Amino acid sequence: MAQKLAFRPFRSIQCQILRQAQVRRTFLFALQAGSPLVRSLFASLTLLIVATAAPVAAAQKVQMSIDVSKPGAKIDRNIFGQFAEHLGHGVYEGIWVGSDSKIPNTRGIRNDVVAALKALKVPDVRWPGGCFADEYHWRKGIGPQRTVTLNPNWGGVIEPNTFGTHEFLDFLDQIGAEAYLSVNVGSGTPQEAAEWLEYLTTAQPTTLAKERAANGHPAPYKVAFLGIGNESWDCGGNMTPDYYLSQLKIYSRFVRNFNPAQQDKQQMLKIAVGPGGGESRWTEWTEAIMKAYQSHTWSWDMNGLSMHSYTVVKWPPSYASVGFGEKEYAQILKSTMEMNDLIAKHSAIMDKYDPEKKIALVVDEWGGWYAPLPGSTPGFLVQQNSLRDAILAALNLNIFAQHADRVRMANIAQMINVLQAMILTDKEKMVLTPTYYVYKMYVPFQDATFVPVTFDAGTFTHDGITLPRIDAIAGKDKAGKLWLAITNVDPNQPAEIKVSLAGINAKSASGETLTAPKVDSVNTFDVPNTVVPKPVSAKAQDGKLTLELAPKSVTLIAVEQ
Ligand code: AHR
Repeated sequence: MAQKLAFRPFRSIQCQILRQAQVRRTFLFALQAGSPLVRSLFASLTLLIVATAAPVAAAQKVQMSIDVSKPGAKIDRNIFGQFAEHLGHGVYEGIWVGSDSKIPNTRGIRNDVVAALKALKVPDVRWPGGCFADEYHWRKGIGPQRTVTLNPNWGGVIEPNTFGTHEFLDFLDQIGAEAYLSVNVGSGTPQEAAEWLEYLTTAQPTTLAKERAANGHPAPYKVAFLGIGNESWDCGGNMTPDYYLSQLKIYSRFVRNFNPAQQDKQQMLKIAVGPGGGESRWTEWTEAIMKAYQSHTWSWDMNGLSMHSYTVVKWPPSYASVGFGEKEYAQILKSTMEMNDLIAKHSAIMDKYDPEKKIALVVDEWGGWYAPLPGSTPGFLVQQNSLRDAILAALNLNIFAQHADRVRMANIAQMINVLQAMILTDKEKMVLTPTYYVYKMYVPFQDATFVPVTFDAGTFTHDGITLPRIDAIAGKDKAGKLWLAITNVDPNQPAEIKVSLAGINAKSASGETLTAPKVDSVNTFDVPNTVVPKPVSAKAQDGKLTLELAPKSVTLIAVEQ
């Protein structure tokens, strides 16, 4: 891509000249005093000013083209799913404060968090874990008398079970999301899981249904997704693929959904444990499960294969979530882009056994995983969320959309107060993270039709790390509106975008952009609006769309016809 040198934009030159004039005035006063030392200082300063006013690289020009008449797969709204595990303050304090709390709540669930999540149109929430799920026993979390137990995975803290099945489903009802339950394969039994589903879903007057009614919910619940185990190759029981397959078949057969409304179109989708990386251990796992699926009989089935992949660079997580520079920015983003190859690798195996793409690849744990914030409880996985995370989120959501034919569900880890969160809370305070705003900006892509964008992304290099400069996806919503999301990964250079539009008579365009002064800019409880979307201007004329992207930014454009 052609690179051109020019001067910085007018406004930044103006500011620089003003700042320089102030410095000059101070030194002129000293110079008039006539000391040789002051004179030589002045000479050096003048040189410095000339150097800083030197030309720098201008906005990079990027030509894109979009042909709306050539749509691709549907971008399933479930790729914008969330994950809430009983871990640290993800559930307790993040969602659940109890009805006696002074924090405004509805039946114990925080009103501020519910309002914020409603704006994201969260499609589904995975619960209760994670590793926690394989030690979860649902009966301890129902009825008036809850069993107080421990959470050995995450700090060995007390698990009061005050947030259980009914509270979770009430929370989903309040935010308008569907349930993705992860059942206990590691330390539970098929019978325990089967009874949980009967308790939840039957409309018939069984003893379990009557117990559900006595606990406040006579109508059957809907369970849209069922995860059969979690990381069964590791914290979920360290199983071999063959051992897990025998469990999968049993759970798939006996853990039934009885909800009359889910017998036909809205059938519960069963998600098997899949890979946790790209090494042979994981490709062999995918091979084993998919091969078994190919020859499955009537007595068991699956609809999705889960995949977990965190952006961590190396274990244990050691990258800081705040207070880092452009090198760490580039390293993390380089690492996160490996998601594309990972999906391609496992999709290729899935294609061999399921060329019709009946089985979805479900990336139900992903996100940036950094060192715990100093002073926080290490097992609580507390980290800040910066502009870098917003860009990381956009790049991953773009990758999922680009693989929309196979990736039909994804759940970022995790929703509140844990890892790459949407929301941080501290007692009555709440702050929305940069990642939250990306999810909000991307709402129009939920169930939109993918529209390919062609462009030369160019590259930028920092400290020997080379990344694509630009990334973009487009989608057409049900009303026919075209949406374009463009990320300028380059932390320093703006980009001038010209899009040739075909198959749409573009009349106007408008948009918003998310950026901030620094790659590690964050929102805090005291200063919550450092990284928030702001309007950006875009022009649609004569089949062309033009706009300028700020460095390190995520921009969403709506094109009206
Ligand atoms: O999200 C935190 C943990 O990461 C989950 O409990 C587990 O599934 C994964 O290893």
